[in-house]
Amino acid sequence: MEKKKIVTLMLGTILLSGVCTESYGQKKHLKDAFAGKFYIGTALNQGQITGRDAASIQVVKEDFSAIVAENCMKIESIQPQEGVFNFDLADQFVEFGEKNGLFITGHTLMWHSQVPAWFFKDSQGNEVTKEVLIERMKKHITTLVTRYKGRVKGWDVVNEAIEDDGSYRKSRFFNILGEDFIKLAFQFAHEADPSAELYYNDYSMANPGKRKGVVAMVKMLKEAGLRIDAVGMQCHIGLDYPSLTEFEASMEAFAAAGVKVMITEMDLTVLPMPNQRVGADVSANFEYQKKQNPYAEGLPDSVNAIFEKRYSDFFGLFLKHQDYVTRVTVWGVNDGMSWRNGWPVRGRTDYPLLFDRANKPKPIVNKLIQQAANYSKKK
Ligand code: XIL
Repeated sequence: MEKKKIVTLMLGTILLSGVCTESYGQKKHLKDAFAGKFYIGTALNQGQITGRDAASIQVVKEDFSAIVAENCMKIESIQPQEGVFNFDLADQFVEFGEKNGLFITGHTLMWHSQVPAWFFKDSQGNEVTKEVLIERMKKHITTLVTRYKGRVKGWDVVNEAIEDDGSYRKSRFFNILGEDFIKLAFQFAHEADPSAELYYNDYSMANPGKRKGVVAMVKMLKEAGLRIDAVGMQCHIGLDYPSLTEFEASMEAFAAAGVKVMITEMDLTVLPMPNQRVGADVSANFEYQKKQNPYAEGLPDSVNAIFEKRYSDFFGLFLKHQDYVTRVTVWGVNDGMSWRNGWPVRGRTDYPLLFDRANKPKPIVNKLIQQAANYSKKK
């Protein structure tokens, strides 16, 4: 009897001291838990870059060791008109990263979305020739990469150039230049900053067709003597897709092709996906229906349990393969700012990230921290 009391008392003290540690500001943070394993990153939006959103900036400083530009380095932001460059936000983004000792990734040099129409048209409105497109690519890439030489440590050089079946996407870049567009993009980026890491980035990477296409492309670049350091797996996932086994098979295949693997845009929607085949195609847009927005008033515990298991399962893979996983980045800090509230259906309430709408860590954060700690012990 007496023994039992003492044990209860001891347990109580331990629990209480845990709570006190938290309330005295000695919380554990993601970046410390994953230090020495891989960078843990987040995407920054305009409110954060300009300093308006002080609360979520605090989370970035405390919990993350890497940042990527959510929008401000895309072609439409950097060069909205030919020869008119706008570096205001991008400059502030890079300064913020440097000031806070964060690993900075630039996103993205060549992408078929968020690119202005002028890029592919001549002054008569006709499609540009190969020579003109190459010149424009070179000028855009060289100007941007040179500006942040030695400061932006890695670039998403080409984004989403491969279809689910492994063939090249018939983008305007591809239609005009063929696969040379990919080679040239990597070449120009490397020439502008020989020390920068260079990445290929895409979604639906668990798909076997896409896996095959990406591996072939990596080999093609390597055979051409071009630098490619890593493949970025965006990881815009759901509660029941993709399969962990297929995702891991892709991680393994990319590593076997001789590159590092990065998880570059992770978010986990809890909402119904009208059509999974859209991957993370930003142009997809389905009509709003009330039944597709079931958690506007809050997330039920039962769904949250699946959410936590999924995050934990995926982080299990990242930890298991930490020898070649160099960065895991989530696509935003808190649920309120996630693009998934508006894509692929506008006006829904989603819960895809690690911090809630008030910038409080969700319970999953501590679980991931614990998972990282347990993993080291086991090894
Ligand atoms: C998204 C941004 O989060 C949105 O704010 C923007 O309106 C559209 O693009 N794949 C990518 C990212 O590579 O650049 C996209 O980001 C999400 C899908």
